[in-house]
Amino acid sequence: MDTPSSFQTDALIAEDIDAYLQQHQHKSLLRFITCGSVDDGKSTLIGRLLYDSKMIFEDQLAALESDSVKHGTQGQEIDFALLVDGLAAEREQGITIDVAYRFFATEKRKFIVADTPGHEQYTRNMVTGASTADLAVILVDARKGVLQQTRRHSYLVHLLGIRHVVLAVNKMDLVGYDRAKFDGIVADYTAFANSIGVTVFTAIPISGFKGDNITSAPSANTPWYDGPALIEHLESVEVDATAAQAQSFRMPVQWVNRPNLDFRGFAGQIASGTIRPGDTVRIVPSGKTSTVKAIATFDGDLDEAVAGQSVTLTLADEVDCSRGDLIAAAGDPPQASDQFCATFVWMDEEALKPGRGYWLKLGTQMVTATVQPPKYEIDMGSLEHLAAKTLGLNAIGVAEFATDRPIAFEPYDVSRQLGGFILIDKFTNATVAAGMIAFNLRRADNVHWQPLAITREDHAGLKNQTPRVLWFTGLSGSGKSTIANEVEKQLFLMNRHTFLLDGDNVRHGLNRDLGFTETDRIENIRRVGEVAKLMADAGLIVLTAFISPFRAERDMVRTMIPPGEFIEIFVDTPLAVAEGRDVKGLYKKARSGELKNFTGIDSPYEPPEAPEIRVNTVDMTPAEAARYIIQQILPLK
Ligand code: ADX
Repeated sequence: MDTPSSFQTDALIAEDIDAYLQQHQHKSLLRFITCGSVDDGKSTLIGRLLYDSKMIFEDQLAALESDSVKHGTQGQEIDFALLVDGLAAEREQGITIDVAYRFFATEKRKFIVADTPGHEQYTRNMVTGASTADLAVILVDARKGVLQQTRRHSYLVHLLGIRHVVLAVNKMDLVGYDRAKFDGIVADYTAFANSIGVTVFTAIPISGFKGDNITSAPSANTPWYDGPALIEHLESVEVDATAAQAQSFRMPVQWVNRPNLDFRGFAGQIASGTIRPGDTVRIVPSGKTSTVKAIATFDGDLDEAVAGQSVTLTLADEVDCSRGDLIAAAGDPPQASDQFCATFVWMDEEALKPGRGYWLKLGTQMVTATVQPPKYEIDMGSLEHLAAKTLGLNAIGVAEFATDRPIAFEPYDVSRQLGGFILIDKFTNATVAAGMIAFNLRRADNVHWQPLAITREDHAGLKNQTPRVLWFTGLSGSGKSTIANEVEKQLFLMNRHTFLLDGDNVRHGLNRDLGFTETDRIENIRRVGEVAKLMADAGLIVLTAFISPFRAERDMVRTMIPPGEFIEIFVDTPLAVAEGRDVKGLYKKARSGELKNFTGIDSPYEPPEAPEIRVNTVDMTPAEAARYIIQQILPLK
């Protein structure tokens, strides 16, 4: 999953880009994105850029000509949009649905353009494309002016850290190249741009279709325009590659290179700054320091390396440093923390589940992270802050994040590479969010682990037992509480020190503020997990009887408990049986709609895939099930 960029996860694309960069090595590179609505003429414009820079191969051109006649919407003229709208299905719908990277070059510069769809549903693609871009071309249809979509895209572009914006007022041919129209749109956009903090942008009146002000300006149709043509501007805009070099040294470790016992090198791409042999560096988050012995590359050792270069560093001391760590200037290391605040874009059909553990990938670091309920969601139309309990597809919000161990980062506005992250669903492996770290939560710095004189082992030793967490899971009415009670009784008779945490009871006290929504159930289990862990630390054999319907949270608790001590017991009683008994009359209420979110009825239960123990209350009595469980967990020491 290593990629050169913060959010982009497609390795193939990275390879293509590398090959292309090789070819035009000597030219400077500009990465840009185009944003616009479906029919603002975006594909036509990109097609035009490729065509005018002669990057279309002969056979592609021939195919294009015949396609234009078949599918084109422009009569006999070449329909440039067809060059870009790659897939047949997309062509038929007339929209572009994925991020497509196009390469082209002029005499002066080489370009990578991420063509991102303008369709409202595809924020995700836009975020992917924008995260690596230096510049954004925001397309506006001259007949329609600044739309909601234009605002949304501009806001995202700004949020994602793109500081160069071109407002391309397209289809000028359709408004008679009217200067007043152009000026009006520029005035509208200026007002909006200022409100979101975009202070400079370049407005260009163009026609992607006719070619006005694309390669040279002014076109004969816009004698009143005195700015650059689009390509001229793209060729000359200064992207501040030197800015990264001026910052302090940081290199995320991609891998540790150890071909033999005498060589241990840390390979990675320098994110910022400059490094020379003899420089003192600090490993983050561990904080250990050392000095650089050598900077190795394929072409031999270097005296100096700068941001953007891929190198292997060897250090003077044997320090612990592995993949995911960051090597930084010793005097100015980045922050390392396990709690921070971030703005994030939710990109999955299934809404954010606050409290759930997701993989968080930041550069080469991968940790488990949980997200608090958002502080607010940002309304993309009005830019107002709305109260929110979660975020759905394409929503943008701000929330606090907690990771299971400290990670090294920079705020996103200092470094896109070290401040941008993605969240990955642990089960589906889908990328569900992209985030930008705003700031470290200082409270994390001020809470430390207190070393304890009496250890976990001491507690367990005094009780002469190995702590365990016997985690019962199953539907309401499956028999969890009954069996757990029976197991505890038998353990008690065996002089074991135990404690039973039961769903109905804990919900009267510790968790009385929680209901049965997914979010509340996640929090219910998180708290019970923490309590069970403390009790196991105190040397007890803990039994828990909660429906605990979600795999993710049960697995989360498992990771909190030392290996071998967490025993998942699935009380596998079928729904029909549990419902047939209906001891508390709750199934009846759930069926009649009187009780909402009832597990098994209108709220899911995810059965364990590989529980340590499986019992039920159909083939065996609770007492038999309890005896079976005791047999399985013996000997207890
Ligand atoms: S859990 O899903 O969060 O693990 P927990 O085990 O604490 O649930 O509580 C389940 C008990 O609460 C059930 O045995 C039942 O008595 C009661 N209950 C009340 N409402 C619901 C509901 N909507 N879904 C499931 N159980 C409910």
